[in-house]
Amino acid sequence: MRTVKVNASTPYDILIGNGLLDKCGELCAKVIKPCKVCIITDDTVAALYLERAERSMQNAGFLVKSYPFPHGERNKNMDTIVRILEFLAEQRFTRTDCLVALGGGVVGDMCGFAAAIYLRGIKFIQIPTTLLAAVDSSVGGKTGVDLKAGKNLAGAFHQPSLVICDYSTLDTLPPETFADGCAEVIKYGVINDRPFFERLAGGIRAQIEDVIAECVTNKSRVVEEDEFENGTRQLLNLGHTIGHAIEACSDLTVSHGSAVAIGMVIVTRAAVRLGLCPEEDLDALVDMLKRESLPISCEFNAAQLAVAATADKKRKGDYITLVVPYSIGDTRLYKLPISHLAEFIRKGL
Ligand code: NAD
Ligand code: GLY
Repeated sequence: MRTVKVNASTPYDILIGNGLLDKCGELCAKVIKPCKVCIITDDTVAALYLERAERSMQNAGFLVKSYPFPHGERNKNMDTIVRILEFLAEQRFTRTDCLVALGGGVVGDMCGFAAAIYLRGIKFIQIPTTLLAAVDSSVGGKTGVDLKAGKNLAGAFHQPSLVICDYSTLDTLPPETFADGCAEVIKYGVINDRPFFERLAGGIRAQIEDVIAECVTNKSRVVEEDEFENGTRQLLNLGHTIGHAIEACSDLTVSHGSAVAIGMVIVTRAAVRLGLCPEEDLDALVDMLKRESLPISCEFNAAQLAVAATADKKRKGDYITLVVPYSIGDTRLYKLPISHLAEFIRKGL
């Protein structure tokens, strides 16, 4: 088992290993006293892994309740949050009790948000079961839900008390869901780690433990430096402003990871056409995304994407801050007037 320490406002460990799910109870017991826990999960993950998680938590002395909700981004909303909160209140959860997120990014974001607001904040633990959640969403404390106007528009920063990543759970992922996580893996290399990007040519699945450990180490450093996203943490949003616009334009039929992959290609191509980034770096990014079976283009035009992107959180007044690669391993914040956004996207299509 590998341990990565996160020295955020609330410090915690990320544990990475094969078969940790069956030990999750004893691992949790090292950081929280025996209490009532509610495992928040979705129906797909529940069918695969809930029983094992419940058994391990019970064996370690926890009183276990579970709340599975229907899977998918469409359920990452306030209605589901209210149902979770009502369940916790009915079951008399108190401030010394704890939530456990067992699932992908949707489960983690919602469980974390419920934990942030129930009784004004209780503890929670992340057990990611998708590659995307393992390398990104389970770490760093961003929690929240989508609103009709756009992705992740309501939420809170709330750090987990522990992250338990059992990468054997990734074996049951559909190939396209594994690929979604690859987009976030590739993102770290493009943002600030060219040697890591180059190592990914060996295939992500073939080096899964190292890949997860390197990604969460990279993310932890960024979170430690700028937990509340006033500066450098914004770089982690590479591909996300246009990615979120693609998700919205597709009525959520394009998944988050695929949208981020396309978003990274669009900003990088725009950077090439503006003379900011060498063309061979765009080619290397496109090759890497294709190798991991990710899409590199979408059917929406610049005007549609620009309108959807203006709902993004990264907008401040009449400006929006994009993350733009100047080369692989060197990305920078790029402040753009909203009135120039459609033209920027047009360059990238
Ligand atoms: P997801 O949680 O919807 O999971 C994708 C699908 O895989 C779901 O249908 C789920 O039921 C299924 N699944 C999960 N684990 C499985 C397993 N082991 N075997 C088989 N099926 C499994 O999607 P995701 O890609 O994990 O996460 C995307 C979400 O994460 C988006 O809402 C995005 O906004 C959010 N996100 C948050 C952060 C953050 O920092 N908080 C970062 C990146 C993405
Ligand atoms: N996924 C971006 C962040 O956590 O900041």
